[in-house]
Amino acid sequence: MELLDLLILAFSVVFLVAWWWRCYSVVGGGARKLPPGPRGWPLVGNLFQVILQRRHFIFVVRDLRAKYGPIFTMQMGQRTLVIITSPKLIHEALVQRGAAFASRPPDSPIRLVFSVGKCAVNSAEYGPLWRTLRRNFVTELISPVRMKQCSWIRELSLENHMKRLQTEAQQNGFVDVMDVCRFTVCSILVYICFGAKIGEEWIKEIDSVTKDVMLITTPQLPDFLPILTPLFRKQVKRAKELRKTQMECLVPLIRNRRAFVDRGENPTGEMVSPVGAAYVDSLFGLEAPGRGRLGEQELVTVCSELFVAGIDTTTSVLQWVFLELVLNQDIQEKLYQEIVDSVGKDGVINEEHVEKMTYLNAIVKESLRMHSPAHFTLSHAAIEETELGGYKIPTDVNVEFYIEWMTEDPSLWKDPGVFRPERFLDGDGVGVDMTGTKGVVKMLPFGAGRRTCPGLALGLLHVNLMLARMVQAFKWVPLPSSPPDPTETFAFTVVMKNPLKAVIVRR
Ligand code: HEM
Repeated sequence: MELLDLLILAFSVVFLVAWWWRCYSVVGGGARKLPPGPRGWPLVGNLFQVILQRRHFIFVVRDLRAKYGPIFTMQMGQRTLVIITSPKLIHEALVQRGAAFASRPPDSPIRLVFSVGKCAVNSAEYGPLWRTLRRNFVTELISPVRMKQCSWIRELSLENHMKRLQTEAQQNGFVDVMDVCRFTVCSILVYICFGAKIGEEWIKEIDSVTKDVMLITTPQLPDFLPILTPLFRKQVKRAKELRKTQMECLVPLIRNRRAFVDRGENPTGEMVSPVGAAYVDSLFGLEAPGRGRLGEQELVTVCSELFVAGIDTTTSVLQWVFLELVLNQDIQEKLYQEIVDSVGKDGVINEEHVEKMTYLNAIVKESLRMHSPAHFTLSHAAIEETELGGYKIPTDVNVEFYIEWMTEDPSLWKDPGVFRPERFLDGDGVGVDMTGTKGVVKMLPFGAGRRTCPGLALGLLHVNLMLARMVQAFKWVPLPSSPPDPTETFAFTVVMKNPLKAVIVRR
């Protein structure tokens, strides 16, 4: 190549980059009329600016919210994210115009391995498959009849839970709250899903596979730059191996249950729920639009959704509640008094009792306000090009609802950084509706609208029951060698960086 050619080439490249920078690096505005956003780099947009900050995405979003306001755009590689932070716009999008934003964006190649082509309530696009799976979830898991039918499962699991607390305290001198609660929540969900009573090791394996799946499916570089997927071949291979392990762990339960449902076979006595009472029973006969009868791959995906969506969230709520109770002994004492007034020192607390315990419910709400397990809802997508806050929202962008911000907004909450359950009894929390259906939106820990968490009632029941039983039996105090530390870290949910360890004293 001649020198002149080289100069022309170099000049063209510089010109093209400068042109790109001027026209496209400003994320918002332009022909697409997207919300405004920070200027990005060629090809990768804001992706490396976020990575180079070496802090969690959430902190970047907080800073951008202060600069760009209630709705802004981030160009993360090839993915465009529209971030919505104001309660008013969140309510408009999720509740008032719920159908418009009720879909999900495409899955990354790794997520597709586990969702088998988006065949689960949480990942399915808005349409007949999602509707069928979600309707089945609601009738088979959280209808009042079903909830009552499963009471004995919680009773049995909680008896074991209390014994395990005692054993762990005797062995270690303290209780790791998250750890011990994880096991119980997982075993309740296994019972509910498969109608089976299985050994401790198997439950631990299900929990461990669930954790690994959650870890491997958190967003990574190829999610934003699919062009790099070939460089992450090892990760895709690892995902396929993990999927195999997940299948090996859950398929035997599915087959045993099918043999029990179809032919009444129960050689090991593992199947303890009557036919029709386990969640998976309803899936055997389900006609899924576009899929027909579900095969083993789909059954594993739809069943494991209970563990992925239900274990971490529920146990993280419990862990934060106990942190606050350990730090605020007066609040714990007030709760204990409510329990004693309701059922006595040794009375058995049941599901109706916890529903009526107003202080207990206020504690859980205050904990969800201050320590929501999810700072964002899952990613949403518009079903067709629409408009929000005066900007265009095309179908190919991820719409991210930052639900946590509203709970620390001083214009909505007095002293938002103070843990005060009483605010839900006679203060700024009275009448606050966590589902967003009543109009005033001040906290939405379960999301809102069509894709709102369908496990809300189940999750809250498990939190309330476990909390009440654990406080009735023991006083929870700090472990002097490991003082409670509220520093957060961001796993799948927002958890404590240093998991809570507490000493328990029999009451
Ligand atoms: C107490 C703890 C829980 C919290 C804080 C919580 C929170 C959430 C949030 C924020 C979403 C996203 C909503 C959206 O994308 O707009 C969600 C979705 C979901 N949750 Fe929960 N959740 C909890 C417990 C559970 C439990 C126990 C289950 C099931 C056993 C469950 C099953 C689901 C499912 C299936 C979805 C997807 C819904 C859809 O896409 O239609 N969750 N949850």
